[in-house]
Amino acid sequence: MATPKNDLIEIDLETTSPEKVRAGVLVLGAFAGGALPPSSQKVDDASKGKLSAAIKRGDLEEKAGSILLLPDLAGVEAERVLLVSLGKRSEFGDKAFRDALAAAAKALVNSTAKDAAVTLADTDIPGRSQVFRLQHASRILADGAYCFDAPGVRRAKKERGVQTIALLTSGKVTDEAKAAVRRGLAIAEGMALAKDLGNLPGNVCNPPYLADTARALGKEFKLDVEVLEREDMKKLGMGAALSVGQASAQPCKFIVMEYKGGGKTKPIVLVGKGVTFDTGGISLKPGANMDEMKFDMCGAASVFGAMKTIARLDLPLNVVALIPAAENMPGGKASRPGDVVTSMSGQTIEILNTDAEGRLGLADALTYAKRFEPACVIDVATLTGACVIALGSVTSGLFANDDELAEQLLESGEDSGDRGWRLPMFDEYQDLLKSNFADMSNLGGRPAGAITAACFLKRFVDGYRWAHLDIAGTNAVAGDAKGATGRPVPMLTEFLIGLAEKRAWGAGGARAA
Ligand code: BES
Ligand code: MN
Ligand code: ZN
Repeated sequence: MATPKNDLIEIDLETTSPEKVRAGVLVLGAFAGGALPPSSQKVDDASKGKLSAAIKRGDLEEKAGSILLLPDLAGVEAERVLLVSLGKRSEFGDKAFRDALAAAAKALVNSTAKDAAVTLADTDIPGRSQVFRLQHASRILADGAYCFDAPGVRRAKKERGVQTIALLTSGKVTDEAKAAVRRGLAIAEGMALAKDLGNLPGNVCNPPYLADTARALGKEFKLDVEVLEREDMKKLGMGAALSVGQASAQPCKFIVMEYKGGGKTKPIVLVGKGVTFDTGGISLKPGANMDEMKFDMCGAASVFGAMKTIARLDLPLNVVALIPAAENMPGGKASRPGDVVTSMSGQTIEILNTDAEGRLGLADALTYAKRFEPACVIDVATLTGACVIALGSVTSGLFANDDELAEQLLESGEDSGDRGWRLPMFDEYQDLLKSNFADMSNLGGRPAGAITAACFLKRFVDGYRWAHLDIAGTNAVAGDAKGATGRPVPMLTEFLIGLAEKRAWGAGGARAA
């Protein structure tokens, strides 16, 4: 099966007045209670009050993201108008903006129209710039057009909706504005890669598939790619990482990708957990919903996605990606509870639970990271069910040995709508990892499970700034909309773009102007 293709959507900036724009559908915002942003007001005037009349009748619900389709509006060139609620004007901010755009994106995908004009990015958000609005609107619209379409997998064929979008702006189409749209599209493209890899089944997306994906990405962009095989890993002493995949018919891989855009600057190292399927091993997981463990490589997927985005944008940074890839299976060659392995760091680990496998791969990756003399290391992993219990699907768990790095990541999450929340790593928690037979056990017990997992990783962090993102609750959704979310690509890329441009969003920041 070939790598699925996701031609997302085309987005261009235009300054045409909304009532004059020729498009299958024109997307307009309206505040609860009927107040209209300037672009919607123009259309209301042109249609002799048809918009405000519909709102007055109560046809548009007040909650941000509610929609109302109005076909053939007199005085308006577009074939249809899609009215989207922006919620209460007094509460309008990042969230309502995102909700409105996500709702618009969904409606456009399901529309019979082929092209659209969207005014939503032209509505002021307190403390945010035009550039911010354009980047985030572009990202959300393009991401909304994502559709998992794996060749070879039978599924109902559905005609796609809107293919091209004109983002209407009343401001000037500056180079900065164009760059913002490009960034938004590049982030959506990175998210699409992360979603594709996550959504592919475990019998397709296995460690060799991830290695092939890295090689393909390396060819498409200027990335140096090296794949360490089992023998190479053995020579390096990666006993912890190797133990995870030792019962699988699929060989472990350790994938190294290097993006070199930053001259002689120290690299940022991204580490992604790449367990392509997690059965739990001999400590077998219960059967219910075990299929969702195909998403256990979403940390790796998000690192692939971030690499694609930064390469697409030619960011002036050096970034290294490290992926310990393995399939965690039971079998005659599998690790047993009680087995002791020696990690690349020389520290020994008693494997008390073979289902706590992610940290074993990450441990050796964190040791390997040291050779790059990193500016910082960020690992991303679907690491613990405990993190899902603590934070649900809203925020990713964030751990860091450096306050500034933690702050920067939290802010990047806030700005991109892909939030994290910091949890502690006090030394007292380390006691829970004591082993009678090795330097540590891989199991901290049920209390504070996300924290003890982070504390385990901390033992392999040697002299560099480090953050750990536990994305077990945010990487995918279950139920009818089952699928990968592409998180935390927005947070990671926002962070990297911020480093590259050395400026921040928000009031006072360079982008707020
Ligand atoms: N991949 C799982 C964590 C996970 C759970 C991700 C639910 C997404 C949803 C991880 O490998 C795991 O099994 N962790 C164990 C650790 C425990 C044995 C210490 C867990 O969380 O139960
Ligand atoms: Mn597991
Ligand atoms: Zn796992």
